[in-house]
Amino acid sequence: MKARIAVLGGDGIGPEVVAEGLRVLQAVERPGGHEFTLEHLPFGGTAIDAHGDGLPPHTLAGCLAADAVLLGAIGGPKWGPSAPVRPEPALLRLRSELGVYANLRPITVMPALRDAAPLKPELLEGIDMLFVRELTGGIYFGRKWREGSTAFDECRYSVAEIERVTRVAGRLATARRGKITQVDKSNVLETSRLWREVSSRVLQDEFPSVTLEHMLVDSAAMHLLRRPRDFDVVLTENLFGDILTDEASMLAGSLGVLPSAALGDGRRGLYEPIHGSAPDIAGRGIANPCGTILSVALMLRHSFGLEAEAARIEAAVEHAIAGGARTADIAAAGTTPISTRQMGDAVLAELARG
Ligand code: IPM
Ligand code: MG
Repeated sequence: MKARIAVLGGDGIGPEVVAEGLRVLQAVERPGGHEFTLEHLPFGGTAIDAHGDGLPPHTLAGCLAADAVLLGAIGGPKWGPSAPVRPEPALLRLRSELGVYANLRPITVMPALRDAAPLKPELLEGIDMLFVRELTGGIYFGRKWREGSTAFDECRYSVAEIERVTRVAGRLATARRGKITQVDKSNVLETSRLWREVSSRVLQDEFPSVTLEHMLVDSAAMHLLRRPRDFDVVLTENLFGDILTDEASMLAGSLGVLPSAALGDGRRGLYEPIHGSAPDIAGRGIANPCGTILSVALMLRHSFGLEAEAARIEAAVEHAIAGGARTADIAAAGTTPISTRQMGDAVLAELARG
C-alpha cells in the first residue's frame, strides 16, 4: 500500500525516539511492497522558536493532507508556564483539527518487565487494559478566563461527543473481553452524569453483549493499583484519562514502552508515545524508543489495516526486551543500559529474525 505520513519529531527526546520508529517502519516497508512517503514538519517548542507558532500553518496543512501523523513529544523548560507562547496549545489544536476524538492507550505488562515496575510482580500478571480517553472535548477545550482574582476553566460535554467515543469503546470492547469500565465523577459533576446516561444508552442499544460498569474516578485510581487485571476497556473523559493513564503506565514498568493512537471517524490517526519530551535526558541518546516503535505498530494497524506488520513489530519489541535489551528506564540496578539507537537495533534484529 501507499501512504503519506507527516512526521513531527517535536522537542526534547522526540526526534531521537521518532528516528528509531522510522527505521522500524522502513524495515517493514520494502518487504511488504509498501511505499510510505514521509514529510518532516516543525511542531511544538522548536516550531515556536523558528516560526513563532507551535503549529505553523504548513505543518497543519501537511498533517491534514497525510494518511497518518507520527509525533514524538513536545514541551520543555524553555517554554514553561510563564512563556509567552507555549507548545501544549499546539498539540490540543492539532488533535482538534484532525478530529481525533478517541485516544487509545493500551496498557499491557511484558513478563520481562515485571520487576521494572514499582509494584509487586504478582499483581502484574495478566494485565491487559485499553484506555479510551476522550481527546477533543471537556475542560481541555472549554473557555478559560480570569475575572479579578478568580480563574475559570469551563468543562462541557455534549451528547454527540460522548456518543461517538462510546461507540469506539464499544467496538473495541467487542473485539476484546467485552467489558467497559466507564469512569467519571458523577457524584459531583453534571458533565459526568451526562456521561453515565449517554454511555449506558449507547452501549445497551448498540453493543448489548458488552458488560458496562460505572466507576468514580477516585475509586478507579485506587482499583487500578489494587486489582489491575480486572480492567478491560476503560472509557473516560479527557482530563481523567490524562491522569489515569499516567498512573496505569506504572504497571507496565516504564512510561517509555507505551504507545498511543488518536482516532476520529476516518482512518487518519495521530500516533505518539505517551511519554513526554524528557528534557533532562534530551540529546544524550539514552531514551527508550519502544513507545514510539509500538506507536508505529498502532499506525500500521489502525490507519493502514496492516495487522500482520503491526503484530510483527509488537512481537519484535517484546522479544528484544525479553532478550535483555534495556534502555536506562527499564535496566536493572547494576547493569549497563543500552542507547536509544541500540534498542532500535535490537528490535530490527528481532524483526529480521522473525
Ligand atoms: C498527554 C499529555 C498532554 C495532555 C499534554 C502535553 C497537553 O499529557 O498526551 O497525555 O494532557 O493531553
Ligand atoms: Mg498526559
